[in-house]
Amino acid sequence: MSPTPPAAVMILAAGAGTRMRSTTPKVLHRIAGRTLLHHALVAAAELDPGRIAVVVRHERDAVVAHIGAVAPGALIADQDEVPGTGSAVRCGLSVLDATAVAAAVAADGAGEHHLDTEVSGPVVVTSGDVPLVDGALLGALVEAHHDGGNAVTVLTAEVPDAGGYGRIVRDSSGAVLRIVEHKDATDAERAIREINAGIYVFDAAHLRDALARLTADNAQGELYLTDVLALAREAGGRVGAMVAPDAAAVEGVNDRVQLAAAGASLNRRIVEGWMRAGVTVVDPATTWIDADASLSQDATVLPGTQLQGVTRIGAGATVGPDTTLTDVEVGEGATVTRTHGSDSRIGAGATVGPFTFLRPGTVLGEKGKIGAYVETKNATIGAHSKVPHLSYVGDATVGEHSNVGAGTIFVNYDGVSKSRSDVGDHVRIGSDNTLIAPVHIGDGAYTGAGAIIRHDVPAGALALNSVPQQVVEGWVERRRPGTPSAAAARAAQDGATPGALSSGAQEERAAADAQITAQDKGEA
Ligand code: UD1
Ligand code: CA
Repeated sequence: MSPTPPAAVMILAAGAGTRMRSTTPKVLHRIAGRTLLHHALVAAAELDPGRIAVVVRHERDAVVAHIGAVAPGALIADQDEVPGTGSAVRCGLSVLDATAVAAAVAADGAGEHHLDTEVSGPVVVTSGDVPLVDGALLGALVEAHHDGGNAVTVLTAEVPDAGGYGRIVRDSSGAVLRIVEHKDATDAERAIREINAGIYVFDAAHLRDALARLTADNAQGELYLTDVLALAREAGGRVGAMVAPDAAAVEGVNDRVQLAAAGASLNRRIVEGWMRAGVTVVDPATTWIDADASLSQDATVLPGTQLQGVTRIGAGATVGPDTTLTDVEVGEGATVTRTHGSDSRIGAGATVGPFTFLRPGTVLGEKGKIGAYVETKNATIGAHSKVPHLSYVGDATVGEHSNVGAGTIFVNYDGVSKSRSDVGDHVRIGSDNTLIAPVHIGDGAYTGAGAIIRHDVPAGALALNSVPQQVVEGWVERRRPGTPSAAAARAAQDGATPGALSSGAQEERAAADAQITAQDKGEA
């Protein structure tokens, strides 16, 4: 947070962003789980400004709806028909001034006397498409503005290819004179490597005065915000510049190649931040952590892992490899291996995976287990309970210390509606059970292997409904003569192990194998 909060931050987001070639407005594209505009709003909020205003125009309704969702306190300024960044800031400033008047009137009504009927002091202007510009960088610019006693302070960068950008024109003493846009620049000016990053701090009074004097007398016929620098100088104001320490961080996103590059570099910054905070990341290049995710000390992230949304990883937990978690809470010391999960909570010391699908509403208790090839949804599985293998648990509650046998399916859907089932504590569900919801299984109950449970099972009972096993002796040799199975059966009856067949049995099996092979070839 900046020690000198600015009066306001204005975020320009009215441009069309045509180079994205997208039906989604540029500022609503996402990296690290947030839109480009959301990153700018977060950076703005870190300055603790009096107000934040966003200037909108292209796809205005979609952009405004998003601002309402992520930064409901931000003001919306609709840019008028006049093109250019100067016009955008003029619209933004008039909304900020109108809000200052409204606040003054309200304070007056409350018996206070405010003379401010327009914004005064430093106003930061930034852009909705510079997601790597964080609060610390904006704060440093505000400090430079303050320390220099400036009317305008512009953020600049030294880049190898300055094509397209506005250039910073300095005099022989190094003082900033003005900014010249690429299209208006002479060859000598185009040779300048120091570019305008499009991020500024203005003194509100100087800004208001200069905006009123802008003209569209330039190559693009637009009102250029950049002309404010020369106008402020003419009016006797100081103009300063701060060179960004990392040029790549101030580069805006204009197309999807730059979107991916910005996403990768923001991810690197986030992953390195967690490593410095005490998290082990085995392979930073294949680890993707969203801005809203968090990890605790001594968590370990194995390669190929994505932690999305507000995912939280507890102390000492291990996640990955090849795991994607979205809005998942992983408890202390838990292990989550090769898992795809969302909107779920995993208790401390629990284990999940490999090859596990946690759908929304899964809650696993402390030291519980959801194992290989298990899918869960709206399922609460209590502490120390296990669903180890090949199951589907949907719309169900399982108590504590219970075990759900391999291959068990909670049948929650009858084709029309869904119902919940619940299983008590210390229950043993046999393998390959089908539990047809709604069904209640009492504490300490057992069910037999392969049971189809349609009715409630009282506490402590054993539920069975499998059919008695029928054995038809000698069926294979009679009905499948000449097959390897028949040969193996004969050999077993002769008392020989399959590995040591009598010579007669070996010949019989070889003949049978040849016949099967011939059949297979004929059919192929
Ligand atoms: C602008 C600067 C240029 C600087 C560059 C940095 C001007 C005249 N030029 O260039 O010196 O090097 O940024 O990226 O300011 N926007 C609006 N309304 C508009 C036009 C733009 O809100 O009418 C917004 C865009 O959405 C974007 C920002 O302003 O967020 C910059 O616009 P863009 O067109 O990318 O920049 P340039 O005008 O090319
Ligand atoms: Ca432009």
